Amino acid sequence: MDRPLRDRQVRRGGTRGPRARDRVVRGDPGRRLAPGTARGRGTGRRTRAVPQDLSEALKEATKEVHTQAENAEFMRNFQKGQVTRKGFKLAMASLYHVYAALEEEIERNKDDPVYAPLYFPEELHRRAALEQDMAFWYGPRWQEAIPYSPATQRYVGRLRQVGRSEPELLVAHAYARYLGDLSGGQVLKKIAQKALDLPSSGEGLAFFTFPNIASATKFKQLYRSRMNALEMTPEVRRRVIEEAKTAFLLNIQLFEELQEQLTQDPEDQSPSQTAGLRHRASSRAQDPTPVETPRGKPLLGGLSRAPLLRWVLTLGFVVATVAMGFYTL
Ligand code: HEM
Repeated sequence: MDRPLRDRQVRRGGTRGPRARDRVVRGDPGRRLAPGTARGRGTGRRTRAVPQDLSEALKEATKEVHTQAENAEFMRNFQKGQVTRKGFKLAMASLYHVYAALEEEIERNKDDPVYAPLYFPEELHRRAALEQDMAFWYGPRWQEAIPYSPATQRYVGRLRQVGRSEPELLVAHAYARYLGDLSGGQVLKKIAQKALDLPSSGEGLAFFTFPNIASATKFKQLYRSRMNALEMTPEVRRRVIEEAKTAFLLNIQLFEELQEQLTQDPEDQSPSQTAGLRHRASSRAQDPTPVETPRGKPLLGGLSRAPLLRWVLTLGFVVATVAMGFYTL
């Protein structure tokens, strides 16, 4: 793609300096307040400042859902290195569908000024990398083999709707995924490599590798400055911020669904869960609780386990009955 806005300084080996528009000085965001925002003004009243830059506003607005995403059980286990091949494969298949849809919608809107400044296919787009990963994890016939879960379908459905009917909200989805991949995603890559014992060549993890971005930090700065330069009405800005929260929630729903699937599969428990199951199984073996009969009556397990005692009691009963008979005569 030969758009003049391409910022080659963020690519490996790039020599040109940043465009004047992108050389933003990121001062104290609190000093630039959104119109109508009061802060102090000698009244003694302190109102929370709404950051004027879209990038700051997005970060602030998604702080809570970001924490929620980090704390989703699947993600918590992942961060502890408790990720199995099955869980990882399922997560990657979902991401394949999500990025295929996201990037198709981006292509549809790449010339629309509501998205054009954020169009960085060579640096960011993940579909080709995910196709490599799919072939690694699911084999050459991966297209027929990969699952397409309900939560993934919901996420894809929202991306299609946005791309076709509300392209001004596409920035929210691109922000949530690409800036996330360039941040926490890099930590997750290292964890997966170790936990799944993957080759250091990066096979199976192409998704996490951005060969055309030399410095993730610098690229994120550039991306934020492009987001901040997008022209939008306050109403659109409000909807973009809401959509970013929706994007996070769609991701959280993916993780929850995934965890549910893994929990239902006893062969795919994380080590701590397996230990728990084993413990429950062994304690069940020594459980003194009476076993229920099919009719629901407790079986006297003690007697059933002591035929001699049962025999002696039966004999005693017979002897007593005979003795009573003699007595009445
Ligand atoms: C275990 C899960 C996760 C971890 C450990 C994690 C970690 C991080 C870290 C360390 C940062 C950098 C924060 C900073 O520079 O101030 C970050 C930023 C970010 N993360 Fe995550 N993250 C996780 C999950 C997610 C998910 C599920 C999403 C959304 C799909 C996401 C989206 C983002 C975004 C958009 C940013 C950039 C925030 C900004 O600078 O505006 N993260 N994450």
